[in-house]
Amino acid sequence: MAQRLIFTNDVNRELATIVERRHPSSVFLLTDENTHRMVRPLVDLAATDIIIPAGDEHKNIDSLQQVWRALQQGGATRQSLLINLGGGVVTDLGGLAAATFKRGMRFVNVPTTLLGAVDAAVGGKTGINFGGLKNEIGAFAEATDVVISTCFFSTLPTTELKSGFAEMLKHGLLTGSDEFDRLLHFDLDQLSPGQLLDRLQASVLVKQRIVEQDPHEQGLRRALNLGHTVGHAFESHALTCGHPVPHGYAVAWGLVTECVLSHMMMRFPSSTLQQLATFVRRHYGIFSITCDDYDTLLTLMRHDKKSRQGEINCTLLAACGDVRIDVTVTPDDMRTALDIYRDLMGI
Ligand code: GLY
Repeated sequence: MAQRLIFTNDVNRELATIVERRHPSSVFLLTDENTHRMVRPLVDLAATDIIIPAGDEHKNIDSLQQVWRALQQGGATRQSLLINLGGGVVTDLGGLAAATFKRGMRFVNVPTTLLGAVDAAVGGKTGINFGGLKNEIGAFAEATDVVISTCFFSTLPTTELKSGFAEMLKHGLLTGSDEFDRLLHFDLDQLSPGQLLDRLQASVLVKQRIVEQDPHEQGLRRALNLGHTVGHAFESHALTCGHPVPHGYAVAWGLVTECVLSHMMMRFPSSTLQQLATFVRRHYGIFSITCDDYDTLLTLMRHDKKSRQGEINCTLLAACGDVRIDVTVTPDDMRTALDIYRDLMGI
């Protein structure tokens, strides 16, 4: 059953309608400590609250057990409903808790961050971190409904908004040049969440269309990996060096590098590459690397979850909207792309 995407500025009314329509035997509402404090007061819904600690370091089996225990103690049944109100950690972990409790109960995602709305909350990937690896344990399980509203974003720091916007840029590149151009016209430093709703809706629908065709990531869904082979390597390298960077920022720099590769290998237009690089440099700054970092970055790319047999695997573009998945990139080509990335960024 396809998940229902609801774009609204009246979350309370939509949640009331969902509860009426789904007619659950009981309702549970999952937040983390931050969303419980900041967002829960805005949500007018009678439910048993479950609150987990905030932060990716708590996206683990302990928090998952805490949710299972609260559901059990609260008398949840398969006919109950779990509402996940929060960012990616809450929707990923809550989704997994619901997918596994009594072999599956229904859940609704209400993302409270732009990154969550545009990516984590939609498409049925649930999970927790395990054994030092991100999202190592999980299941594909779709929320029955995803309620998306920009009203929660007004208190988000600009860094958070920009992080989510990078995934929108990715969806724009996957769609076509018109959508990509529209996104480039946003001034991220003056971004007001209200202006975003139309573009956010277009962006989420890009993901929804891809996921509908390939829910279990056998092929086409890997298109959503655009920017992430390099982006994840930048993110992990920054973390190891003790200077963590937001996920979306790493994706933005990863998009530039992978569009360089696209230009080298598939004639992706250089004018679009230039536009992207200029936008990213202006709004996300520079991820500074030297050629001494290349070996570490290449090792990280070979160990990316989506790579096979130790090869570097990327999603690339022949043009905006013309996607090639599972492209093997040689170490030499990747080194050249990193050189050009550094030139474009002025490093
Ligand atoms: N975040 C990429 C996906 O959901 O497949």
